[in-house]
Amino acid sequence: MASPGWPVSLVAGDIGLRPFRLRDAQAWSETRTRNEDWLSRWEGRQPGLPDATWAERHSPSAFAAMLRVMRRESRAGRQLPFAVMRHGSLVGQVTVSNVVRGAFQSASVGYWVDRDAAGSGVIPTALALVVDHCFTVVGLHRIEANIRPENAPSLAVVRKLGFREEGLHERFLFIDGAWRDHLTFAVTTEDVPDGMLSRARHTG
Ligand SMILES: CC(C)(COP(=O)(O)OP(=O)(O)OC[C@H]1O[C@@H](n2cnc3c(N)ncnc32)[C@H](O)[C@@H]1OP(=O)(O)O)[C@@H](O)C(=O)NCCC(=O)NCCS
Repeated sequence: MASPGWPVSLVAGDIGLRPFRLRDAQAWSETRTRNEDWLSRWEGRQPGLPDATWAERHSPSAFAAMLRVMRRESRAGRQLPFAVMRHGSLVGQVTVSNVVRGAFQSASVGYWVDRDAAGSGVIPTALALVVDHCFTVVGLHRIEANIRPENAPSLAVVRKLGFREEGLHERFLFIDGAWRDHLTFAVTTEDVPDGMLSRARHTG
């Protein structure tokens, strides 16, 4: 059974978002493998998992296993994992996860872009599209982003989109072999009554 707002495709200009497909395996594996130095210091991994190289964790067969988990989680309404496309090519990902309903109606968001596409506003546009979708069709009230204080490019993304800084969580996520502090940023529906993308276009 489909969950609210999933599956869906979102578009703004030359940026498109859609669910991952099995035929993304080669492009995903090539992009993630080529970007190891660019991505590995920012991405969490459950402590205690068996040792595996970055290349092993980003092989086409690893993609197939990840896709099975993404499909299960998105069908259950716990996750919205978007492939980010530009000019028809995979350039990144925005994933809404930890969707909690009830009185909270909140979720976390994570993202990355190919280093070759960085600095051209791909993720700000993609993230604004996703927040607007979550606040309308999906019915969420709050989206949070957790960012290491030393990750200047990611801090620039949430600040330019108007996320509010909520505070520092110490030893928050296990990344690159240690528990890392993170700053939490959040936005609620009240902050963007006319939508985040439209506000970004007026202020950016
Ligand atoms: C964080 C990230 C997703 C930003 O995406 P993006 O589409 O490049 O976002 P922007 O184009 O708005 O650029 C954001 C900042 O990156 C920096 N930047 C600009 N050009 C850049 C380039 N060519 N290469 C690298 N960084 C650049 C600038 O600080 C920019 O901020 P500014 O617009 O205020 O100058 C991207 O840097 C990335 O994938 N980083 C590695 C993974 C990661 O950190 N994920 C987030 C974890 S919380």
